[in-house]
Amino acid sequence: MSENHGEHTRAVRLPGPGTPVGDPVRIPVYRSTTYAFGTSKEYADTLDSGDGYSYARIDNPNSEAFAHAVAALEGAGLDHEVRGQAFASGMAAISTVLLALTGTGSHVVASESIYGNTYTLLDGLLRRFGVRTDFVDVTDLDAVRAAVRPETALVFTETLSNPAMVVSDLPSLAAVAHDAGTLLVVDSTFASPAVCRPLEHGADVVLHSATKYLGGHSDATGGVTVARPELSARIRSARVDLGPCLSPDEAFMLHRGLETLPLRVARQCDSAAEFAAAVLGHPAVARVDYPGLPGHRGHRLARTLFDEGEAGTRYGAVVTVTPHGGREAGTAFADGLRLATIAASLGGAHTLVGHVGSTSHRQMSDDALSAAGIEPGAVRFSIGLEDPADLIADALRALDELSHRV
Ligand SMILES: Cc1ncc(COP(=O)(O)O)c(C=O)c1O
Repeated sequence: MSENHGEHTRAVRLPGPGTPVGDPVRIPVYRSTTYAFGTSKEYADTLDSGDGYSYARIDNPNSEAFAHAVAALEGAGLDHEVRGQAFASGMAAISTVLLALTGTGSHVVASESIYGNTYTLLDGLLRRFGVRTDFVDVTDLDAVRAAVRPETALVFTETLSNPAMVVSDLPSLAAVAHDAGTLLVVDSTFASPAVCRPLEHGADVVLHSATKYLGGHSDATGGVTVARPELSARIRSARVDLGPCLSPDEAFMLHRGLETLPLRVARQCDSAAEFAAAVLGHPAVARVDYPGLPGHRGHRLARTLFDEGEAGTRYGAVVTVTPHGGREAGTAFADGLRLATIAASLGGAHTLVGHVGSTSHRQMSDDALSAAGIEPGAVRFSIGLEDPADLIADALRALDELSHRV
């Protein structure tokens, strides 16, 4: 840079650090929103091909590295290529997929047991734009088959649903969707690729709230989709137009989280299985929903779909415990815990807990909760990385206190 430049030019055009000789072991955070080219043609070629970087809303090395890494995890057992797209949140991923794959007059068949904001997005906002959704019990394959119509754009379900941990029969749902010429889209947030990879079971799109297990530390918000290249290109095009890009800092954190995903999730699943079995025997407990328990209606299916770890099948790490005594007993149980923290979200290192009826499903009456298969007293645990013996002692003590109250 010439010494004759003025002070403002010198301030803006500071000398760079030069190219490092060694490669950084960890991908640096690329905060730059824009990328320089030597010629207009190089810039135009990058825009045309989609390879390389021009503008951060379109592509960024950190978000791309994160999306590629999730695609590698979700596509591990496939004999065809899949691609990932990263988003600013799980809902950004879900809304972009729905907008990419539907249009006025389209129809969606969705599980009646899905995340609340996915439900309201389908039932409210998308309905305003002429996309109609039928919500069905996806464990009833005849009901799904009956709901699918020629104009059905997609079938939407969750691998494991919140909070009853209903297991979706992914191969059968994929068969129903494909027989009708439509697509199966699966939110696999509660499972993560360390438990189940829906694309291996016939799903066309798998998506996640990366805020949960993928990040794993309750400190980064993001979302991700993985699909075949042609479908991923449709999702990418909608993402670029809509603009819900993942920030480079969040992408860095989420990418780092992936390195420990199998370690964390394997331990969380083992701890959850131990926890579920321990609380099930307490006299104050009316019901425990956890697919690892032989009495859970999704147990056999989970054994065929979910990964075998060293300690046996990984059934996920969310356990829903319902004490006797209804809504009041549920809140008293959650409030009586000292180690598990009352907080929204799941999938992190800390065990988080919530009384379902007064928090995540608070808009539903006791009758509506019961109709949806959720008891008014249900308390959801997202099992973290603490010692399971400590979590169990905390829960059993809170349950003992509950027994003395009742
Ligand atoms: C199953 C499921 N899908 C999607 C979301 C939305 O994710 P986010 O909060 O990252 O937008 C959540 C959030 O809790 C969820 O539990």
